[in-house]
Amino acid sequence: MSYTGSQVRQMFLDYFAQNGHTAVASSSLVPHDDPTLLFTNAGMNQFKDVFLGFEKRPYVRATTAQKCVRAGGKHNDLDTVGRTARHHTFFEMLGNFSFGDYFKNDAICFAWELLTDVFKLPKEKLYATIYLDDEEAFTIWRDEIGVPVERILRLGEKDNFWSMGDTGPCGPCSEILIDRGEHLRCDAEECAIGKCDCDRWLEIWNLVFMQYNRDETGTMTPLPKPSIDTGMGLERITSVLQNVGSNYDTDLIRPMIAFVEELSGQAYHRDDRGFPFRVIADHVRSCTFLITDGVLPGNEGRGYVLRRILRRAVRFGKVLGIDRPFMYTIVPVVVQLMGDAYPEIREKNDFVQKVIKIEEERFHETLHEGMRIASEMVNKVKAEGSTVLPGRQAFALYDTYGFPLDLAEDIAEENDLTVDKEGFQAAMNEQRERARAARQDTVYGAGMEFWSELYSQQGATRFSGYQALEATSTVQAIVRGTEVVTEAQAGEEVQIVLNETPFYAESGGQTGDQGIITAGDTVVRIVDTKKMAGALHVHIGIIEKGTLQTGDAVTAQVNGARREAIARHHSATHLLHKALKETLGEHVNQAGSLVEENRLRFDFAHFSPLTREEWQAVEDRVNAQLLADLPVNTEETSLEQARAAGATALFGEKYGDQVRVVSMGEYSMELCGGTHVGHTSQIGLFKLVAEGGIGAGLRRLEAVTGSAALAYMNSQEETVRTLAEKLKVPMNDVNRRVDALQQVLRDKDREIEQLLTRLARYQVDDLLATGETVAGVTVLAAQVQAPDMDALRQMADLLKAKIGTGVLILAAVVDNKVNLVAAATADAVRQGVHAGNIVKEAARVAGGGGGGRPDMAQAGGKQPEKVMDALAAAKQVIKNQLGA
Ligand code: ALA
Repeated sequence: MSYTGSQVRQMFLDYFAQNGHTAVASSSLVPHDDPTLLFTNAGMNQFKDVFLGFEKRPYVRATTAQKCVRAGGKHNDLDTVGRTARHHTFFEMLGNFSFGDYFKNDAICFAWELLTDVFKLPKEKLYATIYLDDEEAFTIWRDEIGVPVERILRLGEKDNFWSMGDTGPCGPCSEILIDRGEHLRCDAEECAIGKCDCDRWLEIWNLVFMQYNRDETGTMTPLPKPSIDTGMGLERITSVLQNVGSNYDTDLIRPMIAFVEELSGQAYHRDDRGFPFRVIADHVRSCTFLITDGVLPGNEGRGYVLRRILRRAVRFGKVLGIDRPFMYTIVPVVVQLMGDAYPEIREKNDFVQKVIKIEEERFHETLHEGMRIASEMVNKVKAEGSTVLPGRQAFALYDTYGFPLDLAEDIAEENDLTVDKEGFQAAMNEQRERARAARQDTVYGAGMEFWSELYSQQGATRFSGYQALEATSTVQAIVRGTEVVTEAQAGEEVQIVLNETPFYAESGGQTGDQGIITAGDTVVRIVDTKKMAGALHVHIGIIEKGTLQTGDAVTAQVNGARREAIARHHSATHLLHKALKETLGEHVNQAGSLVEENRLRFDFAHFSPLTREEWQAVEDRVNAQLLADLPVNTEETSLEQARAAGATALFGEKYGDQVRVVSMGEYSMELCGGTHVGHTSQIGLFKLVAEGGIGAGLRRLEAVTGSAALAYMNSQEETVRTLAEKLKVPMNDVNRRVDALQQVLRDKDREIEQLLTRLARYQVDDLLATGETVAGVTVLAAQVQAPDMDALRQMADLLKAKIGTGVLILAAVVDNKVNLVAAATADAVRQGVHAGNIVKEAARVAGGGGGGRPDMAQAGGKQPEKVMDALAAAKQVIKNQLGA
């Protein structure tokens, strides 16, 4: 009985739903609010905060089919794709999750039941791997499930300890592998399970026992509750159930290969010759899903990974003789195969095709010439008898023809060459350095000269955004990338200059406006507005629909809610400036500011951190002005008059003759070009959230207003509420409860200390009994338990006090390292004993170093397995010192 890939997906979800799991939809490939992650790379990503205990869900068991991309970041399969039968940049991960509910036993039993009872896989072909000394998992596999011990393998951290990234939830895992049979074995002499990575031994399911959270320093703290995260590649399990040797032969992917066979007129082969087909089939899925989830080809971050994937596929198309844009024509095949499970790709079908087509066309402009140059380079390298393509040449391909490094590597590999990656990176860095030097200021698009020229021809942009959020206007210029064009199309990133605009361009610390520009059916989404040549408002955005041409009549519309939120923060900045002067003194001058939708940042001259009282006074003063509902007025006047009226001007700022003065009642008057609220009460609420030093005599404050302030207060309240819940007291009692708990901890610490001291004394008495006498001196060498160097030294002191005439060396293993302390009484030293030399020799044997005085010395070693040898060597040194 063979199932389709879609059936397999459904059977998995149904099985876990029947076992009390809530079926949850796949999350986006672009992780929200997680800067540690490039793309969603596992089913557990969307539950990260649930594992960490930061977020609660109405269920404790979940199951998903999750779209994943592994191309860049910790889990990266980009280079492996096409070479193996089982790696992908895009794949679907089937998973079941327990958030502090069931743990190892049920996780293993569920997996086994689904594989053997539902999917009917032959038990004798299945293997389990466990993390080194995970006896619990071992026992479950052997006794509960009945897997013979020779089919349970213990593997190390690399294979059986899973983490999402460098930080975040992690834990030991147990994997289920299947033997796909002798016919798929590789040529390696030792092709065996756990040793060989070839297609015969297929990992199908990873069961992670989530137990820790790893932080930036690598420290692991236990999660609130042990949890379960599992992942099974849909494509892999489907290849097993359909009894085909490769994921690429399943009904999930094969139809795309068939499509490419038709396009190219070439037949697909399962061996190396099929490599380009597999890369294309894999990459078209990544491109479709990434673009659907909002990624666009670009030169940085996610956008660049997408560009690399797409260009790599395009070049492989050319290898197959497809000499025109074609990737976009495969998108409907992807949609047909997967649109039921992921309706979003059906919805975005047209858009995705358009974006891919434009990117392909753009790449085709240089692809042919680039390939010609590349083959010249390759021939030259070969003629010179070298096997390495110089990094500088790979960089030239990148820089001039838009060939990402992967492409140069593919081309090199096809010719049995490698690429000097370091040289490539060095050339890249050099160019960046040159670019930085050439760029005095941030210049967008076509460069400073272009903007200045445009300004002198067309004059300044008329800004109508103080009065209105919408204006009708005419397109004066369009820049695509760095190129001035007269027309741009859907999917393209553009910079637009209009003769008049309501869009505020970033200046005076206030962030640029967002919104939309429309012309008939054409829609451009504006994500930022910058000022160029001091006078042009440059709208930066993406054409979502239609075509835009120079000269078009357009409507420009600012996102009003966002603009209001920015205005609240900007007006609050003025009040904050004044309140700081009132609280700290007139020396407080603004040194910089940043005004955004969700926060404001204010830098000012002051020499010490704000005290708690000052902080509160500043906050209270600002809030008092909000309650006073001061009117906000703006006035154009001469600089002279403004100064005479007492307006605050910013130090070092250049002002023209005519200035704009913003005043709030009698409280504040500043020269400012920004946008503001009409009355201070519209700011709603003002909260300081952070304070710190940013250099000699400079401090930085961060604050939030309006709904951002409310959100901040809510999250603070939530923290206290969860604390109260955890402590099982009303919110008002949290403080008292924590005080009481801290007292309990202190008492316990003291008790533990006393117990440890008593314990040490017992150890000391026992140890003294093991001493032997050499030339009238008691000699003691022993391995002991001591949590750190201090404790070890204390123990040595105690022994020294009781030993009579004697010398001793103690060793303790802590965190896989050896601590050593040696001590000798004064009369033993007189007889020739030297603690420093004793410990030095012991440390050398234990793979370390150290030394010290004749009466007391300490050292450390890195090889705990040598601890007994080290003590024996120390004893020998003592005997030599005593002439015995
Ligand atoms: N999160 C685990 C993995 O990706 C299940 O393999």
